Amino acid sequence: MPHHSLFPTLGILGGGQLGRMSALAALRMGIRVKTLSPSASGPVDHIGESVIGDWNDPDVMAAFVQDCDAVTVESEWAPADLAESVAGGATHVWPSSETLRVIRHKGRQKTALAQAGIALPEYRLCATYGEAEAAFLQYGSKVVAKRFEGSYDGYGNATVRSKEELAEAWAQLSADDGLLIESFVPFVRELAVMVARSYSGECVVYPVVDTEQKDHRCHAVTVPASISEAVNGMAQKLALKAANATALVGLLGVELFELENGDLLVNELAPRPHNTGHYTIEACHTSQFENHVRSVLNLPLGAPSLRVPAAVMINVLGKRAGELRADGLEEALAVPGAAIHIYGKTETRPQRKMGHVTVTAEDAKSARRLAETAASALNL
Ligand SMILES: Nc1ncnc2c1ncn2[C@@H]1O[C@H](COP(=O)(O)OP(=O)(O)O)[C@@H](O)[C@H]1O
Ligand SMILES: [Mg+2]
Repeated sequence: MPHHSLFPTLGILGGGQLGRMSALAALRMGIRVKTLSPSASGPVDHIGESVIGDWNDPDVMAAFVQDCDAVTVESEWAPADLAESVAGGATHVWPSSETLRVIRHKGRQKTALAQAGIALPEYRLCATYGEAEAAFLQYGSKVVAKRFEGSYDGYGNATVRSKEELAEAWAQLSADDGLLIESFVPFVRELAVMVARSYSGECVVYPVVDTEQKDHRCHAVTVPASISEAVNGMAQKLALKAANATALVGLLGVELFELENGDLLVNELAPRPHNTGHYTIEACHTSQFENHVRSVLNLPLGAPSLRVPAAVMINVLGKRAGELRADGLEEALAVPGAAIHIYGKTETRPQRKMGHVTVTAEDAKSARRLAETAASALNL
């Protein structure tokens, strides 16, 4: 916590929807917010103080961090290492650049999780094509190839079922240090859990959610997940273990596969507020964004528990390319109980995340119906 009696200042590296929703949560608590991003894209314009500048320039970064109590990132790709190196002792950068370095590379992330004894899909860090071929055969000729760095929303992954597809995946996705090959997991459900963790070690764990992907991209999130008490407890325990294993300070999104026998495997970690946690804004006592802000400022964390029986979140993706227009907004707003979030991106593109809709209700089924209705009304 800052030692002076003024409200703290939070710096956010990044100008997308995660930065926007974190900034809005901070501003509500009277926290001063600054954002730094390399180009104007809309979401954080006019929210707090938005600085556009070359964030790889030490002078730009030094000027930005100098009056911040804490600096955080909206993605693992933001230059936290530079922020750390120019920050004085009074400014904390969270998550640390070391935590980000480990999580950002899918190979280093797997190694850290495996060392902590966390169950993972079978995997091999393949430095050469020969190793990738051996892994492909070992895992029954059905694998998922993943680029080590820079992938998101399914860009950077390929399901591989033949040697031809393996060669293609290697050509497209391998880097100087090779390619990650994972056995294909026949999961019954994909689950996710958010954890907020402070520097002091205080942690809160959110309810387990059920996530559905379309084309490897998150489409719908349902809470509570239709899972047993035992699986619920195990998922929350795994998420806490992952946060401790990576010394994460801030918000961690943990993606899991549930197997038919109830076992859980960790798919991947995201060291930031996560798409599958957007539902927390309307459905939980404290949103993931608010606890992200609180944790990086070392303020007391808020209760993560549900304040409604059920909620569903549906992503709103771009349907065309060009300037954003409010096409379908009135129709979506007319759906009873639908909370409409539009991220303020000035340009739309097919499949780009433009917003989301959350509906809270007595049961997940009616929440789902209303959320789908509102989301599909939006023609962005
Ligand atoms: N080993 C696997 N077996 C089966 N499906 C997988 C596997 N790995 C990933 N997937 C599917 O692909 C999606 C995206 O993969 P993920 O590793 O989470 O990459 P991203 O960084 O794009 O989110 C997952 O949510 C899951 O649906
Ligand atoms: Mg993922």
